[in-house]
Amino acid sequence: MHRLPPLLLLQAASLSEAALRFGCATVSSQRLDPLVEPGQVPSAHVHQIVGGNAFNASMAGDIGEQATCTTCTYSEDFSNYWTAVLYFRHPTNGSYKRVPQYPNAQLGYEGRDARDIKGGMTIYYTERDFETDGDEYISAFKPGFRMTVGSPTITNLSDAQRQPGLRYTCLEDILTRSHETYELPARPCPAGIMAIHHFPTCWDGVNLDSPDHQSHMYNTKPPGDGGFLNVDKCPESHPVKVPQLAYETMWNTSMFADMWPADESQPFVWSFMDSKGYGTHADYVFGWKGDSLQRALNSSCMFHGCGSPGVQGVLKTQPIADMNKCAVENTVTEDTEGWLSELPGSR
Ligand SMILES: *[C@@H]1O[C@H](CO)[C@@H](O)[C@H](O)[C@H]1NC(C)=O
Ligand SMILES: *[C@@H]1O[C@H](CO)[C@@H](O)[C@H](O)[C@H]1NC(C)=O
Ligand SMILES: *[C@@H]1O[C@H](CO)[C@@H](O)[C@H](O)[C@H]1NC(C)=O
Ligand SMILES: *[C@@H]1O[C@H](CO)[C@@H](O)[C@H](O)[C@H]1NC(C)=O
Ligand SMILES: *[C@@H]1O[C@H](CO)[C@@H](O)[C@H](O)[C@H]1NC(C)=O
Repeated sequence: MHRLPPLLLLQAASLSEAALRFGCATVSSQRLDPLVEPGQVPSAHVHQIVGGNAFNASMAGDIGEQATCTTCTYSEDFSNYWTAVLYFRHPTNGSYKRVPQYPNAQLGYEGRDARDIKGGMTIYYTERDFETDGDEYISAFKPGFRMTVGSPTITNLSDAQRQPGLRYTCLEDILTRSHETYELPARPCPAGIMAIHHFPTCWDGVNLDSPDHQSHMYNTKPPGDGGFLNVDKCPESHPVKVPQLAYETMWNTSMFADMWPADESQPFVWSFMDSKGYGTHADYVFGWKGDSLQRALNSSCMFHGCGSPGVQGVLKTQPIADMNKCAVENTVTEDTEGWLSELPGSR
């Protein structure tokens, strides 16, 4: 089990490092991929994106200064975070229907019902440092920084096992946080499917990006291991310790519960036509305004304690209604939501 258990959370409260966990509503869902296919309209497959409204096919520069609103809880976070979209393939007629997303119930607190957040994802910036003294300095990412994890070109288990921290959890209920798999769950999951993406924590300190969008980063996690990283020594090639970014996306499969295939085959498929789930991947473009992320990382704040109504935190928050209001208009105008005879981009 790699989630943060409650006991460890208590211990962590005394350490000198911050751990951010917050919700971001959906800002856009369309076929754009500014990181891997910049400028291409439409891109190869559908993505679901959260964060600032500077998102577009060719975004560049400091989006923390370009965006004017964000779907994230922290109103200074104009970053963009995205993954592919999960579809359901109807077992008898072969049509596809997008699986809806739902917000993480743990994001609620007094006066704020997380269920009001429109879809989106849970975002973490953390490094698990429960055993050592917590004094490692963690640098924020720099304006223009971007990276990916995973790849839609991965099609078998042995390659998937080389990707640290990319997993699925079959949700028995909305709070299930154990039993992670490399492939999409092969059985109906009562509360849906959680897709988990952890990013590496060591940066080369020079390049804001790299040709494969990954080699400027280094993962201290051995292949096969999942989950959040403990604070580890970064290698000389990638000496700068950055926070570990992680996404959790909750896919609500309940509307398909009575359509499970008679032959027991797994009916869900990523928007890039992957029904195994080995090609799971995620993208990030940094966009915190000014020094706001560093300010939080320098503090010792924990989750809601980093800023929430009623809790004076180091970060500014905004009401859920304002998160949900921020949106990016689609530049690719095709149906991605109805029952579709084929996946967008599959031709
Ligand atoms: C996309 O954003 C960039 C800046 O990041 C801007 O220069 C460009 O004009 C935008 N493109 C569109 C089509 O809005
Ligand atoms: C396939 O089945 C779904 C669910 O009953 C239905 O909404 C959709 O229109 C069907 N597609 C076709 C092509 O008949
Ligand atoms: C997995 O896929 C890669 C790339 O297509 C291939 O090189 C490798 O041999 C495959 N491994 C197995 C065990 O099938
Ligand atoms: C999932 O979707 C169903 C409708 O199909 C809805 O009733 C339910 O509340 C949703 N679950 C969550 C956790 O949002
Ligand atoms: C964070 O801490 C470093 C090292 O102590 C300091 O140089 C920097 O000014 C701090 N940044 C912020 C935004 O607090």
